[in-house]
Amino acid sequence: MGTSKQTQSLINQIAQKCEYWEKDQNVYEGSEKEVEILTLHLLDILGISQENIKAPYQCGASKKVDFAAKFESSVQTSTFAKPDLIIECKSPSISFTDETKKYADTVFQLQGYLRGIKCKSVSYGIIFNGLNVQLFRKHGMLSYPISPILSVNQKNISQTIKYLQQNIQTNNNKRGTIITVWNNKGGVGKTTIAQSLAILLNEKITYGNKEKNRVLLVDYDHNQGDLTANCKMDPSEGETKRLLDADYLKKLTTEDINNSLHSFTNIPVKGRKPRFSFEVKVLRADQELSRLSSEYIKDFAANERLALRKLCLRMAKNFDYIVIDAPPNYEQSIFSKEAVSAADCILPVALYQNDNSIRNYARAAIDHIQSTQKIRKDGGPYSLGIWFNRWRSTWIATVTRNSVKKQIDAASNTKNQIELKRIFYKNKGRELRKIVETADIARSIMDAKGLPGVVRFIRARSAFDFLLNEFSD
Ligand SMILES: Nc1ncnc2c1ncn2[C@@H]1O[C@H](COP(=O)(O)OP(=O)(O)OP(=O)(O)O)[C@@H](O)[C@H]1O
Ligand SMILES: [Mg+2]
Repeated sequence: MGTSKQTQSLINQIAQKCEYWEKDQNVYEGSEKEVEILTLHLLDILGISQENIKAPYQCGASKKVDFAAKFESSVQTSTFAKPDLIIECKSPSISFTDETKKYADTVFQLQGYLRGIKCKSVSYGIIFNGLNVQLFRKHGMLSYPISPILSVNQKNISQTIKYLQQNIQTNNNKRGTIITVWNNKGGVGKTTIAQSLAILLNEKITYGNKEKNRVLLVDYDHNQGDLTANCKMDPSEGETKRLLDADYLKKLTTEDINNSLHSFTNIPVKGRKPRFSFEVKVLRADQELSRLSSEYIKDFAANERLALRKLCLRMAKNFDYIVIDAPPNYEQSIFSKEAVSAADCILPVALYQNDNSIRNYARAAIDHIQSTQKIRKDGGPYSLGIWFNRWRSTWIATVTRNSVKKQIDAASNTKNQIELKRIFYKNKGRELRKIVETADIARSIMDAKGLPGVVRFIRARSAFDFLLNEFSD
């Protein structure tokens, strides 16, 4: 970064250009080029020097992003490699508001770049059109917004720059991603998928790490406690509540956290190494929370306080992934609300050919996730694409697709329709995401060993292959 005077001048240049474009809508053909110049200003303001920028940058076979940047110069080589950040620029005529398809396409484009083979080292993505900027985080193959759509006009630019500076951290401060498995509807496979996903993620190694992913499972369905039971554990008496309380009073210690997490693992029997070994930590369902009156829970876990979100952010420093198993019935369940508001990403699950679970999720995505985003003010939670669980290989997708289409058509405005299309369909086609029905998954949870199918049967594991590809390479 130059002197603060130089920086201030760059900030002014961006803000003035933004005001000019906003006021007169005076956008002409060369505007995208001008946005690219402003992007260089923006990178300078963020403390990234010229020699650490490559424009354009080849992300993969046929994917070129406008800018790639590194936070620090590499000592050994002079060639540009392993960027930390990429930026896709658009002309100011492409407006960044949730309502427009062009905005949705820009996000889709950035996410495609972020998945590129030459972007494994990238942790952040930015879209910028000279008027607005939005920041995305990348973790494994996942990418999700970590800012709302921010403005760079005179009034907002200082705040926007501050937000970007605070949220683009060096690798030392990296934290894990918080994922909530959710549908408003019960019995769709949330618990099964949360547990299986956690185990499979534990086998992977995130780029840049040496060890396998550290994964924490949070059972936030305190009334049922299915996940806790599936991990062969008993629910706790107040363990989660104590963590929430201590965190709220700013008295939470690392020791408190460590004492509350329990290992779910398959230990070698008589020295025989298990076929697929794993270890995940579990924060068990809490019977005390389940018993407490709704009034008390409201006090400690009220929506706007984001109690679970804060606790998870704290715990995420020691994990690569936190997977939360949410209860159904959002409207009635404070725990369901808390689980949704705690997430970076929501992983939605629905049942095949079940109009209700599709309608439920369509409504939930619009009503609940969007309203939580307004409270959070950090761009999250972000709904990933929906997975249709218990799919039989002999089934034909048309019925489900028709049911999905009905929900999209019924959505009241374009904004919601765009969002539902993104959530329900894979890529730009009308392809659905499926997890096949594999008896092994169910049977093995029930059987004597009590270990989930994914650590015992190849068939159960392969049922999750496509889901896992969305998370990790
Ligand atoms: N892909 C699958 N193949 C076979 N059985 C499955 C599959 N997914 C889930 N099941 C079975 O379906 C039942 C319900 O699953 P699960 O408990 O995971 O649903 P849930 O959404 O968590 O339910 P709740 O809303 O009550 O918490 C379980 O018996 C589980 O073993
Ligand atoms: Mg469940």
